[in-house]
Amino acid sequence: MGTDLGERLVAAISSELGTTPGYRAAHAKGMCFDAVFTPTPMAARFSTAPHLQGGPVPAVVRFSNASSNPRAKDAAQEVGGMAVKFLLPDGRETDIVAISLPVFFVREPEHFIEFTHARTSNLRVLAYAIRHPESLRAILYAGRRRGRLMASRWEAAYYGIHAFRWLGPEGGVTHVRYELNPEAGVREIPRREASGKDPDFLNQELAARLQQGPVAFELCVRLAEAGDATDDPTRPWPAARRRVRAGRLEITRAVEDQRDGCERRVFDPTHVIDGIECSDDRILAARREAYSVSIERRLKETS
Ligand code: HEM
Repeated sequence: MGTDLGERLVAAISSELGTTPGYRAAHAKGMCFDAVFTPTPMAARFSTAPHLQGGPVPAVVRFSNASSNPRAKDAAQEVGGMAVKFLLPDGRETDIVAISLPVFFVREPEHFIEFTHARTSNLRVLAYAIRHPESLRAILYAGRRRGRLMASRWEAAYYGIHAFRWLGPEGGVTHVRYELNPEAGVREIPRREASGKDPDFLNQELAARLQQGPVAFELCVRLAEAGDATDDPTRPWPAARRRVRAGRLEITRAVEDQRDGCERRVFDPTHVIDGIECSDDRILAARREAYSVSIERRLKETS
């Protein structure tokens, strides 16, 4: 059941950005791909989660554009999404839901509503940033990317943004943040070059690229140290923080059934598993509430 906060978060998105029946309230345009995840031996030292104990584990990846418009042109993409679902042999699942920005715009759910309304004009964003200086980092980061766009889905880095608690085999607790780094390296193209391409080039080119063989991402975790903010998605951790390679995600082919195997699937960042816990980040908790409103709605509309 959707909560009041969840309803209000989704209403803010829908009123400013529109909504299309049957589609996600945000990240409406996407495509899923089959993948295989192989953890590194190092990952099991930090978490007892089942997908980190040896593998390989099948996975599904959904790449998306953050827009609420399922027919948005790729050349207009501001933020890209990468959601990963690990499919365990006993039928359980756990997700990572990441974007192509390393920090988020807001640290309080109520601010998300205010910020979403402000995004209709640059002047209002500026006024918002004066009231909420913690948002400036993400606003500037997104602004710097305005003239440029990921060259492809598989040449962009994606970030889990929130901290999660990894519970180790000997009772150790480590706060981590996820990164999915492309093995092909990060590459961007000028937005005007993207405008000359097919409006769906990001998904189309990935599907075509996979005919020649898989593409891969490295799953890394950054480890917090004492004093690092573990409940604030607007604050990055110092660049010097240790980065551990947790595994390799190999993407092999487009999912055959894009309706039931993708558009009707649910990816939720709070969908953790033994050995992993959500941090006290309030945006992370609010996401669960907003996602369930959108999920309930779109599943009803497509049943
Ligand atoms: C309060 C803040 C946020 C709100 C209200 C919000 C809202 C939403 C909603 C309503 C959906 C559609 C859910 C569905 O129908 O399945 C969605 C999808 C998505 N969001 Fe968020 N979001 C927030 C923050 C974030 C953050 C911080 C990230 C990245 C770390 C993120 C990444 C994504 C991605 C990648 C998807 C698409 C998932 C998929 O492919 O199924 N969102 N968001």
